[in-house]
Amino acid sequence: MPERTPYIAANWKMHKTVAEAAEFVDALLPRIAATQHDVVLCPPYLALAEVVERSRGSAVRVAAQNMHEAESGAFTGEVSAPMLLEIGVEAVVLGHSERRQYFGETDEALARKAPAALAAGLEPILCVGESEEARDAGQTEGVLERQLQADLAAIEPAELARIVVAYEPIWAIGTGRTATPEQAQEAIAFIRDVLRGRGGEADAVRILYGGSVKPANAAELMAKPDIDGALVGGASLDPEDFAAIVEAA
Ligand code: PGA
Repeated sequence: MPERTPYIAANWKMHKTVAEAAEFVDALLPRIAATQHDVVLCPPYLALAEVVERSRGSAVRVAAQNMHEAESGAFTGEVSAPMLLEIGVEAVVLGHSERRQYFGETDEALARKAPAALAAGLEPILCVGESEEARDAGQTEGVLERQLQADLAAIEPAELARIVVAYEPIWAIGTGRTATPEQAQEAIAFIRDVLRGRGGEADAVRILYGGSVKPANAAELMAKPDIDGALVGGASLDPEDFAAIVEAA
């Protein structure tokens, strides 16, 4: 089985000005100087360039929180892959539940965005996850399977290993109600099975857990065999907490 390098990503959402982002990077870098893990910061668009510049020569790579699938065009308010690449961004979060819920992100659009990101040379971090109602109704696997099949529909099996998947149960995001390590492991093992079923080299794909990850629960989550890292929201805003989570992987 291929060794999967742990992958820890900070999803800042709509937090931090450019000055605050700079301050964070300066505080984080000395704390993670020895890490061998993949460390990815996802700031708001305006802070991307600053974070890229300030983290040069470190383990940190930078991701956007969304992108449009076209290279350019009449799409007011949108940002494209070439624009991100030009400033040194290397990855992009796609399909976060907040974008699905508040901004009308659809599986159809994600099915175009994921291959567009790969074709441009950006690493997609594709988010999937069930609502509380779906979990209570025993539909967790059905929801995950539907999202994965739809969002990855245009990805060739040989390309699947270049994608990072984040399992983020909606009921655990920003609620303080973390999934138990067993719940997260079960869902993530299922996601790996779906990727295997699509003909991908599923054992090479990094699959992260996201939803109220904190320094206190990170180690037990990431100790599970299929959980390769974390997508961290709230606790990623503090450099000390985020560094502790990187260390826990
Ligand atoms: P949270 O957010 O860690 O604040 O729950 C996770 C996410 O939305 O990626």
